[in-house]
Amino acid sequence: MNIEIAPSILSADFSNLANEIKKCEKAGARILHIDVMDGHFVPNITIGPVVIESLRKKTKMILDTHLMITEPKKYIEPFAKAGSDWLTFHIEAVKNPSALIKKIKSLKLKAGISINPATPVSKLSKYLKELDLVLVMSVNPGFGGQGFIPSALKKISDLKKLTKNENIKISVDGGINFDTISDVVKVGADIVVAGNSVFRSGLSIARSIKKLKVLANLE
Ligand code: DX5
Ligand code: ZN
Repeated sequence: MNIEIAPSILSADFSNLANEIKKCEKAGARILHIDVMDGHFVPNITIGPVVIESLRKKTKMILDTHLMITEPKKYIEPFAKAGSDWLTFHIEAVKNPSALIKKIKSLKLKAGISINPATPVSKLSKYLKELDLVLVMSVNPGFGGQGFIPSALKKISDLKKLTKNENIKISVDGGINFDTISDVVKVGADIVVAGNSVFRSGLSIARSIKKLKVLANLE
């Protein structure tokens, strides 16, 4: 099993972003999770393509871009141009997910769909064959540092069964810390997104990532 920890820069020190992500890379992280919020789909506003463009110059990590925005269609090209590698949009925000998946793939990026805690896994069934990634939210999107919602565990294990013949990664996002990581890995997560527990655990970034890996039984 090759489970990955994807640090979420939402909890990083934005005045020192290049250094923070270098530390993640040095600690062995291969995927950098970037939260894009528009103040409409979620009540918070974060970053846009211009930041991704700057980060692209500083790291070779996979830029895993999580679009928490109401009009993902409008922004696929700008994020692709800026250097995103993976683009994940929310199924709650779009009418025709297949068209968006096609668009993302036509730009040679990996395509993902995310589901909020209130959205059932069954909403994804039709799209599983086309997708590279499913991002299961284990908090209501909008902010870092929230508590893990345990009903995500059943959703992950259901998805694991549904995708056993597909080449698709299951990523989990929200409230994953030293206490909750082993549960999400046990039920089948391939990628674990971690914000506060990487950047604000009280330990260094390297030690936090190491500890998460040990607790997930990856090392
Ligand atoms: C929440 C974001 C998450 C967030 C996770 O809306 O999608 O990626 O950064 O932060 P933690 O790990 O602190 O819950
Ligand atoms: Zn996220």
